[in-house]
Amino acid sequence: MSARVFWAPGRVNLIGEFTDLVGGPVLPAALDLGVRIEVEAAEAIDLCSHELGGRTRLAADGNPLGDENEGWSRYVSAVAAELALLGRPAVGLEGEISSTLPIGAGLSSSAALEVAVGLALCAVADFSLEPLELAQATRRAEHRAVGVPCGILDQTASLLGRAGSALLLDTGSLAYEYVPLHAGLALVIIDSGVSRRLESSGYATRQEEVERALAVFSGRDPAAITLAELETAEAKGRLDSVAVRRLRHVISEGQRVHEVARLLGAPTPASLQRLGEVFAAGHESVRCDWEASTPELDLLVELAHEKGAVAARMTGGGFGGSIVALAWTDEAEGLADAVLSAYESHADAQAKAYLCHASDGAGEIS
Ligand code: GLA
Repeated sequence: MSARVFWAPGRVNLIGEFTDLVGGPVLPAALDLGVRIEVEAAEAIDLCSHELGGRTRLAADGNPLGDENEGWSRYVSAVAAELALLGRPAVGLEGEISSTLPIGAGLSSSAALEVAVGLALCAVADFSLEPLELAQATRRAEHRAVGVPCGILDQTASLLGRAGSALLLDTGSLAYEYVPLHAGLALVIIDSGVSRRLESSGYATRQEEVERALAVFSGRDPAAITLAELETAEAKGRLDSVAVRRLRHVISEGQRVHEVARLLGAPTPASLQRLGEVFAAGHESVRCDWEASTPELDLLVELAHEKGAVAARMTGGGFGGSIVALAWTDEAEGLADAVLSAYESHADAQAKAYLCHASDGAGEIS
């Protein structure tokens, strides 16, 4: 039997951070960095990986064969378990996983792993799922594996990405469309070198806080709640200030997503100037209202602006990780170098830059 190869990209979120916790809009792009898995059907699951470190051996339905189910093995096991619940026949696989995605940089290395493993497990068992069904199953796998109540952003971006475009996704209805990116603009991602801290606790706490705020509005769609209504609820003492800030972030961020999608669709000097302002407002909102930025991310965003980025903001799950900047293609490398060397003299951490292209989503590659 010959080996089959699958690829699942990481993602960068251009804007729409944490809005997927309340079914709001997001605007990610799939990257040309990702996870590759080369496998053959087998009785059990037996995978090794140099980049991820070590080997995982599980029953074909994802059950651990021994006591150990740690590290990346938890993701593989959780994906197999979720697919078993959907009726995937218990066919195993053996092979190798490789990855070009930095871990803990906020570029969805775990979602890319889940999606790559999910595609491979479906293929060896001749079991097929629609991309959005697989996105939902792999998202549930993330909860199952590490208990992080994440939204659907990462897995959907990995599956539905399209070269040269961002994906405008409504995470409530799962309706989506593509927004072509300006060919003259490059995606510059700079990893702060401080990996995500407080990952589960900070993320989960914020979700509880925003839900507390939404409960006051009897579960209304956040997109329909105005900032004025939020102020009134606060003034009447119906909402504490933390809950107000969390909800204010997701409401204003949802509006920014639609504005960025419009601006990217009609790039003029004025709209690109506005794009920079909207990204900056998005960063401020994550910093002050959602409180998931770090001094390192704030510094990188400031430096990116100073060195000539068209737009820059933190990206991903926060509490560490990366920023995303849009820069003119012929200036992108110089900008990245200038930011890195200024960062080096200000911060304790070692940053790393990635010049990326918006790429196609996951699939079989040979
Ligand atoms: C993480 C989660 C996503 C999303 C982002 C923030 O990447 O996995 O679902 O909430 O954070 O936008």
